[in-house]
Amino acid sequence: MSALRNDSLLRALRREPVPRVPVWLMRQAGRYLPEYAALRARAGSFMALATTPSLATEVTLQPLERFDLDAAILFSDILTIPDAMGLGLSFAEGEGPRFARTVDDERAIATLVAPDLARLRYVFDAVREIKQALAKRVPLIGFAGSPFTLACYMIEGGSSADFAKVRKMAYARPELLDRLVAINAEAVTSYLGEQIAAGADVVMLFDTWGGLLPAADYARFSLGPMRTILNQLPQDVPTIVFTKHGGNSLASMVESGASCVGLDWTVDVREARRRFGDRVAFQGNLDPIALLTDPATVAAAARSVLDDAGPAPGFIFNLGHGIVPATPPEHVAILVDTVHQASARPVAIAGRVGG
Ligand code: CP3
Repeated sequence: MSALRNDSLLRALRREPVPRVPVWLMRQAGRYLPEYAALRARAGSFMALATTPSLATEVTLQPLERFDLDAAILFSDILTIPDAMGLGLSFAEGEGPRFARTVDDERAIATLVAPDLARLRYVFDAVREIKQALAKRVPLIGFAGSPFTLACYMIEGGSSADFAKVRKMAYARPELLDRLVAINAEAVTSYLGEQIAAGADVVMLFDTWGGLLPAADYARFSLGPMRTILNQLPQDVPTIVFTKHGGNSLASMVESGASCVGLDWTVDVREARRRFGDRVAFQGNLDPIALLTDPATVAAAARSVLDDAGPAPGFIFNLGHGIVPATPPEHVAILVDTVHQASARPVAIAGRVGG
């Protein structure tokens, strides 16, 4: 792993000094890139891209051809696990995900089991092919959805403005939700273990909806199962945990066992680093909407996040949530170059921590 030509992400995750702050973007491959739209049109659907390792490899590398990014992230989706459980996933053009079946009552939850990993082999094959194509240029990030975020889509059958069915279950039938997230945790643990075995250098948990829950329920249904996963993964592989709107539970996320906590754009990164920067690395947290402005505003916004994060080791620049489809690709180039230039400094002599 140290044989990577650019290992600044891995160094930052270990809170070691880096020559410049590493940067990658959540959802860096996708609909804001014309070359992605063209390939998706040729493949016919999102799932055709995701389940064909050579196409998933091509999409993973697209943003790295354009921008000087410090990491690649596997092109896939968090919903591959419920799909492999038999829920029947599809993505209609311009719409969100849809499941043919939901898991929303006692019987469906009682009979649910973690999927046979053979049904997810296309993901592990993609990881192997991407690693080969990267040729040690940058690390590869594998990922999965958090058990609670997966449960949200499984119960609701698709996206939702407020996930009211799920939140109702947390009050009315908490034992059912406990079982659902426990099965998801078991599935995610073996899924990420297999991604690591196939070559993922880092793994990340995307918890998009945990921040909808009251603090005690977040601890029970979202963070608890993530902690179970993190404790079972190989301890030498760095991990990132990201809960959108999780700022209220920052102290417990720091204790989750992850190497790094991802922050959304609402969190005060200066305060997070001051309180917990000696315990975990942080990743974030530019508002993705800032990328819709103009070059000067993008550059100023990037410098402002870097100023707030400060020079101490253990910071990875990212957005506070996924890049939005209307983002001009030129603004992404400006962002990445600004982060590198504004944070560049001589590497500290071995053993001496800069800043
Ligand atoms: O970061 C990356 O570039 C890697 C690929 C990746 C995708 N989805 C590709 C994708 C990752 C890491 C995800 C994670 C994901 N998927 C999350 C967690 C992160 C987040 O954004 O909150 C969630 C909640 C999903 C579920 C999902 N997948 C939704 C709600 C949608 C539709 C709306 C949307 O954001 O695009 C998807 C589809 C999806 N996943 C697309 C891509 C590139 C677009 C599909 C298309 O081409 O139509």
